[in-house]
Amino acid sequence: MVKTEDILIDNWGRKINYLRIAITDRCNLRCFYCMPEEGINYLPKKELLSYEELLRLARIVAELGVNKIRLTGGEPFIRRDVMSFLSKLNQTSGIDSIHITTNGVFTHKYLNDLQGVGIKSVNLSMDTLDPVKFKQITRRDEFHNVEKTLYGLLERNIPTKVNMVVMEGQNIDDIVPMVELSKNHPVEVRFIEEMPFNGDALHHVALTWNHKRILQTIQNVYPETNSIAHDSNSTSLRYHIDGFKGNFGIIPAYSRTFCNTCNRLRITSQGTIKTCLYDDGVLDLKKSLRNGDSDQVIKNQLRTVVGKRARDGFEAEKTRKILTINESMSSIGG
Ligand code: GTP
Ligand code: 5AD
Ligand code: SF4
Repeated sequence: MVKTEDILIDNWGRKINYLRIAITDRCNLRCFYCMPEEGINYLPKKELLSYEELLRLARIVAELGVNKIRLTGGEPFIRRDVMSFLSKLNQTSGIDSIHITTNGVFTHKYLNDLQGVGIKSVNLSMDTLDPVKFKQITRRDEFHNVEKTLYGLLERNIPTKVNMVVMEGQNIDDIVPMVELSKNHPVEVRFIEEMPFNGDALHHVALTWNHKRILQTIQNVYPETNSIAHDSNSTSLRYHIDGFKGNFGIIPAYSRTFCNTCNRLRITSQGTIKTCLYDDGVLDLKKSLRNGDSDQVIKNQLRTVVGKRARDGFEAEKTRKILTINESMSSIGG
């Protein structure tokens, strides 16, 4: 039981109980909204936090009230021994739920073992249902594997959310078919506003498809769309269409309408803590973990940065040392 005075609460009164860990910056796809096709400089392995370091961090944050962890990347299943890391993470006292965000290319190989290592739900990136468009967007011909993962998750009743980044000129015609995926399957399809984290400061993102336009496009075809409840810390506005088995959601990731309930802390693949997706890193945790700092010192450092948190993603963006966003989502983990 975490003592009330130990709980991480930011300077705006928001309780932090959710850690997102980018366990690698490597990926087997090249989604153009995430990274350039070539010229990516992956971190040398020794620059990634080791599993031992991540387990220590998980234990430390659990002692501060974090009870939910999401593994992201890059692609988490690229990292060696991820399943044995997950089973150890699952033994961390205080961590009630572990989730994973994956591109699904390798994930189908692990489906029978996911629940055994404590995975409570899977978020699957899938930007189209068309194999040709999939190859254009991800620059890899892997749609069949992602589809195998999707249906494998559904067969096993593993709670699944499908993530589709909505992009002008790429997958607009997929919005309605993607909603229809939730007609016969108990899946939650989420449409995400594109953000500028594509590893290329010159690849400018204009928000042509904001959450309102996405919703309108769906309602033009399905007027019987009802807004439904969402968890108070959720990034997603949720909807249900009469007669459908699943739901859909819209994530105003660029409009940032949900910051006032944000409960998230992030650790990037290079071991930097972010208190907002839009800041450029507020604490070099790898340095602390590697220079022998005690648990208490690390807790104090975390408390300090959480105590100086930007109010929202717009304020966080203004605190950046380099104002232009040039990171790839693969090192941040979304
Ligand atoms: P849960 O709420 O745990 O299901 O996670 P999620 O849906 O936020 O996680 P996921 O990794 O599937 O991310 C979905 C999209 O939301 C990605 O595009 C993320 O980059 C984006 N996202 C996640 N957290 C935040 C956030 O705090 N701020 C913003 N602006 N976008 C976020
Ligand atoms: N904008 C919005 N979402 C993104 N993701 C990756 N890059 C971007 C971006 N530039 C999504 C992925 C994945 C999640 C972790 O983040 O599709 O589902
Ligand atoms: Fe890989 Fe995910 Fe980035 Fe696509 S969005 S390149 S799947 S890390």
